[in-house]
Amino acid sequence: MAKKKSPARKATSAKKPALKGVAYRPTPDVIAQANLKSWETVARKANRDLEGFWEAEARELEWYKPWKKVLDSSKAPFYKWFTGSRVNIVHNAVDRHLNTHRKNKLALIWESEDGKEERSYSYYKLNREVSRMASIIKSMGVHKGDRVTIYMGRIPEAVFAMLACAKIGAVHSVVFGGFSVDALQGRIEDSESKLLITCDGSYQNGKRIELKQIADAALERCPSVQNVLVVQRTGHEVSMQPERDHWYHELLETPVAQERFPTEAMDAEDPLFILYTSGSTGRPKAIVHTHGGYMVGTYTTLKYVFDIKEEDRYWCAADPGWITGHSYIVYGPLLNGATSFLYEGGPAFPNPGRWWQLIERYGITILYTAPTAIRGLMRFGDDWPNQYDLSSLRLLGSVGEPINPEAWRWYFNVVGKKRCPIMDTWWQTETGMFMITPTPVVPLKPGSGAKPFFGQVAEILDEAGKPVKDGEEGYLVLTRPWPAMLRGIYGDPDRYVKQYWSTYPGKYMTGDSARRDKDGYYWIIGRVDDVIKVSGHRLGTAEVESALITHPAVAESAAIGLPHELKGQGIHCFVVLRQDAVASDALAEELRQHVAQHMGAIARPEDVRFTDKLPKTRSGKIMRRVLKARAQGLPEGDLSTLED
Ligand code: WT7
Repeated sequence: MAKKKSPARKATSAKKPALKGVAYRPTPDVIAQANLKSWETVARKANRDLEGFWEAEARELEWYKPWKKVLDSSKAPFYKWFTGSRVNIVHNAVDRHLNTHRKNKLALIWESEDGKEERSYSYYKLNREVSRMASIIKSMGVHKGDRVTIYMGRIPEAVFAMLACAKIGAVHSVVFGGFSVDALQGRIEDSESKLLITCDGSYQNGKRIELKQIADAALERCPSVQNVLVVQRTGHEVSMQPERDHWYHELLETPVAQERFPTEAMDAEDPLFILYTSGSTGRPKAIVHTHGGYMVGTYTTLKYVFDIKEEDRYWCAADPGWITGHSYIVYGPLLNGATSFLYEGGPAFPNPGRWWQLIERYGITILYTAPTAIRGLMRFGDDWPNQYDLSSLRLLGSVGEPINPEAWRWYFNVVGKKRCPIMDTWWQTETGMFMITPTPVVPLKPGSGAKPFFGQVAEILDEAGKPVKDGEEGYLVLTRPWPAMLRGIYGDPDRYVKQYWSTYPGKYMTGDSARRDKDGYYWIIGRVDDVIKVSGHRLGTAEVESALITHPAVAESAAIGLPHELKGQGIHCFVVLRQDAVASDALAEELRQHVAQHMGAIARPEDVRFTDKLPKTRSGKIMRRVLKARAQGLPEGDLSTLED
């Protein structure tokens, strides 16, 4: 059956072809439960009529004014969706539920890292919280279109802050709370934020992170910020600058805070947020997402892929500071009227049973996390998950990097007890929503995200732009627009076109390489640019290098990513020292520390090696690929452009 030249579809449909490498086939009860029973039927329809598919989805949401056009491609690659309409994502994520049976349903449940605090918010209560924060932000002179940077730990107020900005039409820019001074400062500066929302501190593995102190250091070089709103989390003493800094809990006691506050009507194409991510060159770029298209994209993908039901307790264990948190902790679940769980801490603190305990305690039905977390928990053995009742789980998810078969099997067998299909979702900050993913009724192959989402087409191309044969590796590109697609790079339209749409004109370049097998399943191999994925987090070699260069001993440096058992990839640095500096183990350690201090702990290099010279092209570009090959003892490839 798996022979080439497959005869006409109809003739074979009676007997499904035996897919090679399938480890899970949807059981009849999974299919019976699923909102969507036949993947093929919807896929076929959406392929024929992309706009029709998305229009029907958009109709399930509420619009202040309907669209004139579903998709406007006239200025491609500057695509526009649902043009002419008026909408606000918060109206659909919060407001609209208040007139339904969901009014008193839990929207958000939160537990603190130490397990001593639990908070829950119905949609009704969430609306009050968001309104109060929105009214306070607005009173600080934040207007429609103004940028607001959010730099917080994983607490409910981080969610309120995002929604509050969106409610009044301000553009949020969340900076991951694990980033440090340089990263924060660069992002505030580039976005020219008027307001910073932060906390006194946050908790991570029992330690306190000094968010306010880091923010103060960053703000020394950010003149655009007029006000700082500080949410109290740790309660320890922090310095407050008069006029500029304001305690959130104090403002809540004033008449400025209003429990009912209007939601601003926006154009569908108005920006909702920017989110900085690492690219192949230079400083991080701000990816722009909008109210209309992003809303429809995240709503639809979560509904179908995680099969959201009223009674679900859905947990995406990412951080709100990454796109995964934006789309699938905050917006996607709330748009679906789901109950989203937010946990303050990490996976293995105070012990490796913590996550499993939370699943039992809250009856989590869907768990969405990253391979790095699974590998990290797997190494502590089966006893930890086996101590807890995980029978509430019905679906699992994976994101951030390719999942290795060993981790897949452990997740499937030990966590999901062989009952729960794993949704391996491939997507990016830029795509805003899942792009290659199964749904619960699709047979699964460990390590493959199955096929492109409804209506999408993914091609795998060689250097010349020709499709490669099945089974061969090539560049992964997307050839059809989708509603949650990035609308550009904030303030840099040229870079948007150059970076994503110029390698193969008219096609979206993902930056990943992949292969497709004979069954049409996609296998992501990894980034082909200078992006490193450390524990699923995206970092640029250039950022690490610019942190290193600020150290007085460093003349020049190169950072590369090499395979790492737990993290997927680890950062390795090569450093050329200044003449007066002396190489030593102590200095190497100091440099690792230096990077962590400037960028954040996730960027701490695995090692720093000293060298006299870096391999460069004649035009002076560092050839990281050569360093990478050498470090792994692999062939160094074409060296014709090497300087000497
Ligand atoms: C890059 C995007 C979008 C959520 C988190 C990451 C890699 C993402 C998968 C997956 C293999 C994956 C790709 C992609 N990636 N998901 N399921 N299988 N690789 O977003 O930080 O923008 O990173 O993450 O390399 O290009 P991001």
